[in-house]
Amino acid sequence: MKLTLLAGFALAASTVLGSGVALADNVTLYCSADETWCQLMARGFEEETGIRVDMTRKSSGETFAQIKAESSNPKGDIWWGGTGDPHLQAANEGLTEEYMSPMRDQLNDWAIRQAEAAGNKTIGIYSGALGFGYNKDLLEKNNLPVPACWKDLTKPEYKGHVQMANPNSSGTAYTTLATMVQLFGEEDGFQFMKDLHKNINQYTKSGSAPIKAAGLGENTIGIVFMHDAVSQSASGFPIVTVAPCEGTGYEIGSMSIIAGGRNPDSARKFYDWALSAEVQSRAKDVKSFQVPSNKAAEQSPLAPDLSTVKLIDYDFDKYGSSEERKRLLKKWDDDVSVLPQ
Ligand code: F6P
Repeated sequence: MKLTLLAGFALAASTVLGSGVALADNVTLYCSADETWCQLMARGFEEETGIRVDMTRKSSGETFAQIKAESSNPKGDIWWGGTGDPHLQAANEGLTEEYMSPMRDQLNDWAIRQAEAAGNKTIGIYSGALGFGYNKDLLEKNNLPVPACWKDLTKPEYKGHVQMANPNSSGTAYTTLATMVQLFGEEDGFQFMKDLHKNINQYTKSGSAPIKAAGLGENTIGIVFMHDAVSQSASGFPIVTVAPCEGTGYEIGSMSIIAGGRNPDSARKFYDWALSAEVQSRAKDVKSFQVPSNKAAEQSPLAPDLSTVKLIDYDFDKYGSSEERKRLLKKWDDDVSVLPQ
């Protein structure tokens, strides 16, 4: 979806050409967080700076593919949101630009580590743990046991009741794949994905779609980031969030400036603005319950408490590298997605 908003005072920030025509500063934002949060960011930046924002929302893997396809003639200026792995891959492939924001001192260590791992071509903006959620009414209606562990999701009784996204398009689903490989080892991790495949009713494009479908009663269990499941219960849907018993992976949602973009100054302004505590504190207003990277940003009391979740030591260097991400996705395409269900 495309959103173009022009604030009333945009002229203040505009360039007046010789002909007397006023040309507003603008920035093209590729956004991979939730649509409502993307809109809040685009509108907020536009209203506060007068810089016009052209925003497109796409999933993390899709945005990576678009930036790569456009690399000889970049159309985007800044990529905000989405899981960190494809941002790291973009840095790896020289698709994004180094930038040292004056806001860095205000951030948590994990956000800086993400930047340092990528030669400062990306930075952490939020984090969140992977898990799943279920619709408790549908579970009861189908006489299904309450799932507590990843391995539960492969049991035959859940056939047709589990949904996740496609790891090629979705950062959430790639995090799921990379988590299983790290949690169970490569062979058993892929075996888990194959067993799970038998129970999957649909691979969606977007990572949060499976739990939105569960909220609406169109699906029973969705493999998603825990904050996306909490967002559904906070909206009044009968969703229960689960931190899987074996432990789980997590994301460092990231932001990167696109190399060779047409509006580098506006991109840097957006980057600094998006790292401020005040702007990050707005996430909870649109039920985005990730952990903010700015230490002073406010988090909602409804946000999942990550200190109670058994987190693996997710290897972002490895699973965000171009070679490994390509390899795992190809293996999933070749060995898992083609299997009969
Ligand atoms: O905004 C919700 C969210 O789950 C983010 O935490 C995450 O970075 C992004 O969506 C991933 O979306 P997708 O799986 O569609 O790439």
